[in-house]
Amino acid sequence: MEIVILLGAPGSGKGTLAVELAKVSGIRHLSSGDLLRAAVKDGTPAGMKAKTFMDTGNLVPDELIAEMIEDVVRADTKTQTLLLDGFPRNVPQAEILAGMMARVGVMLRCALLLDVPDDVVIRRISGRRVCPACGAGFNVDTLPPKQDGICDNCSAELIIRKDDKPETVQHRLEVYAAQTFPLIEYYRGAEKLVTIDGSSDDLAWKTQAALQKIRG
Ligand code: AP5
Ligand code: MG
Repeated sequence: MEIVILLGAPGSGKGTLAVELAKVSGIRHLSSGDLLRAAVKDGTPAGMKAKTFMDTGNLVPDELIAEMIEDVVRADTKTQTLLLDGFPRNVPQAEILAGMMARVGVMLRCALLLDVPDDVVIRRISGRRVCPACGAGFNVDTLPPKQDGICDNCSAELIIRKDDKPETVQHRLEVYAAQTFPLIEYYRGAEKLVTIDGSSDDLAWKTQAALQKIRG
């Protein structure tokens, strides 16, 4: 297995791009946020611990999310390329990941940065709607469902994510700038950073651009 890390601000389109990449290339998408939201929904001990951090737009403790990611990586004996969306989220997590990859025998292919200005991420987050049943993501402005408020895949009623309230979004952007942004220099220094312009709404173009960068 090789790992591709997906970097980008909240609302930069990491999840949307990762789902599309999985469809066209078979790259597996593993989202730390989705893993945590599932744990919260299932009421597991990890989920109960994570909930308050997530609802307020803060990062959950490093060890909590690192253990969840390692469990998935260890259990996966089939995937060739694993796209990590949302992990690592700070330099200590990047160090934890490096140790984990050495233990499990996994290589880092690259860290792909989705570069998107703040005004675009705020606009995208304010239009985001998600399916509580199957996890699919939509946007009332840019990627609307076929029927207003209804999931295209499973017909469940779409909801707004709890952490998408404007004041929480602002805090998530601050957390990103303080804790996650330094990872860009970290992976540039390791000569692993590749970047695509994530501001375009053309998802097909973005997916092809990402594939080209990943395949180098
Ligand atoms: P997480 O779920 O990872 O949230 P995030 O990083 O804030 O990112 P988002 O999911 O909000 O945005 P996205 O980039 O995936 O954008 P999307 O594709 O939806 O984390 C949530 C929380 O979990 C954190 O706050 C933290 O508490 C915790 N957590 C997670 N990982 C952690 C870790 N490693 N350590 C500690 N804590 C952790 O797109 C946004 C919108 O734009 C959508 O509506 C979409 O439809 C639209 N859109 C996207 N791309 C396009 C496009 N090309 N064209 C048109 N519309 C588009
Ligand atoms: Mg996401």
